[in-house]
Amino acid sequence: MRIGVYPGSFDPITKGHLDIIERGAKVFDKLIVGVLVNVEKKGLFDYSERVEMIKRVAKHIPNVEVKCFEGLLIDFMKHENARVILKGLRAVADFEYEFQMALMNNKLDPEVETVFMMTSGKYSYLSSTAVKQVAKFGGCIEGLVPDEIIKDIFLKIKRE
Ligand code: PNS
Repeated sequence: MRIGVYPGSFDPITKGHLDIIERGAKVFDKLIVGVLVNVEKKGLFDYSERVEMIKRVAKHIPNVEVKCFEGLLIDFMKHENARVILKGLRAVADFEYEFQMALMNNKLDPEVETVFMMTSGKYSYLSSTAVKQVAKFGGCIEGLVPDEIIKDIFLKIKRE
């Protein structure tokens, strides 16, 4: 079975992420979305909320699983019996950072490969950080994140 892992912070999931998940699910038999638990960096949503939101917006894709991981991605890969990391590339600006991570992960475990999927042009400017900023100042985030989580984002920001 071909298992892919799509790792990230997903704070929150954007339409760009969902686009990669939908397309990635066609390439792998099983695609695991791995939400990084970063104890040093408090996000807007906690990890269980991020996982729940991803599950909610990806429920139409039967071969997608959503899980949290802590520590090294490579250890999570081993635990899940996966050898392929899926990453989305938005622009040239992403390349250097992604290149470094792919090389580091391959150094840590030469059996692991990273494959990159180009983000759809319409989402190439999107990031979770930008979405949070727009929402914080009352801007419209329709079309940037899945409709099902727009309310969650505004509610969360209001409670901050
Ligand atoms: O959505 P993000 O924040 O760009 O995702 C980054 C992520 C989670 C893919 C990356 O930070 C990661 O893999 N962290 C786990 C720690 C790790 O394995 N580091 C070694 C590779 S440099």
